[in-house]
Amino acid sequence: MSITLNSPLDMHLHLRDEEMLSVVGPLSSESFSGAIIMPNLVPPVSTKEGLLSYKERILKACKNDTFTPYMTLFFKPTYTKAFLASVKDELTAIKLYPAGITTNSEGGVSGFDVDELRPTLDAMSELEIPLCVHGETNGFVMDREAEFVSIYEMLATNFPKLKIIMEHITTKESVAALEKFDNLYATITLHHLFITLDDVAGGMLQPHLFCKPIAKRPEDRDALRKVALEGHPKVMFGSDSAPHPQHAKESCGCAAGVFTAPIALQVLTEFFVKYSTVEKLQDFVSNNARNIYSNIEIPNKTITLEEKEFTVPQKYADVVPMYAGEKLKYSITEIN
Ligand code: DOR
Ligand code: ZN
Repeated sequence: MSITLNSPLDMHLHLRDEEMLSVVGPLSSESFSGAIIMPNLVPPVSTKEGLLSYKERILKACKNDTFTPYMTLFFKPTYTKAFLASVKDELTAIKLYPAGITTNSEGGVSGFDVDELRPTLDAMSELEIPLCVHGETNGFVMDREAEFVSIYEMLATNFPKLKIIMEHITTKESVAALEKFDNLYATITLHHLFITLDDVAGGMLQPHLFCKPIAKRPEDRDALRKVALEGHPKVMFGSDSAPHPQHAKESCGCAAGVFTAPIALQVLTEFFVKYSTVEKLQDFVSNNARNIYSNIEIPNKTITLEEKEFTVPQKYADVVPMYAGEKLKYSITEIN
C-alpha cells in the first residue's frame, strides 16, 4: 500500500546549532516542507539579528532541500510594539517558556502577571503574531500541565484576538481547554501519542523517552489520540523532536527531549492507516497548520510512503532516536 502526503509540516521542532544542526537539520528538511523552529538556544533567540543569522545557518545546514524554517523569538515581556513591528515579517510566532521549566528556558516568564504581559501580548494581537506556549507550572511534575490550564484561560480571555498554541499537550485537561476557547490551538508530538509514564519509568528507566512535559496516564494519551486521529481542526503535528548527545541522555542528570524527526512520518502513517484515514493524517500533518497559521507560505513537496520495513538506526551521529534498532512498517520511498 502506498500513501502520499502533501507538504508535511512539523509545527514544533528543535534544530539546535553548529554540529548538531548539521546532523539533525537535513533529517527534517528532507521530508518536511517546513517547521516551526524553537528559539531555546544558548543564549535564546531574542533579537532580529540573532533570528536572521540563525535562519541562515539553518538554511545552510539544510542544503538544497525545499524547506522553510518558520522562525520564532523567545518571548520577553519587554518586547515593544515598535520592535515587534520591525521583526514581524521575519518570524512566524513567539515562544513563551515559564522560567526554568525545561532545556534553556532560564530567561522565561515568572509569575504570569497579566499587567506585566499586557503590552507585549496586546502588540502581538494587533500585529497578528501567534503565541506558542510551553504550558507547565512548577508544581508536582504530573500535575504541571493541568495546573497551567488556568493560565491558558487567563491568556485566552484577556487576549481574545491572540492565537495561542498550547505546545506539546499531554493531558485530557488541555484537550478539553481547546473546546472552551476559540483562540486556543494545540500541537501534539509523536512520542506523546505512543508512550505513557509507564514506558519512561515503569520498568528500567528509559532516558531516551524522558521529556518535558513528562508523558502522562493512559487516559491522557487516549484523549490525544482521539483528537489527532479525527484530524481535529485545532490540532497540529509538532514533533518536539529535541536532540541531545548520547552522553547527555545516558547520564546522571538526563537531559529532557525525545529525538523523533527521522521516524515521525513513518510512525504516523502506520498509526493512521491502522486507526483512521490518510485524509485525517493529511489534516494532522499539514492542512490544519496551514489554516491555523494563516501567515505561512508552504513549499510544495510530495512524500510517498510504502509498506516496506524500515529499521531505525541505532544513532544519527551521536543522537539516539526513539525506537532505535526497531523495525517500522512504513518507509519513505519517494520525495518530490
Ligand atoms: O523535552 C523537552 N526537550 N521539552 C522541551 O520543552 C524542550 C526540549 C529541548 O529543548 O530539549
Ligand atoms: Zn520543544
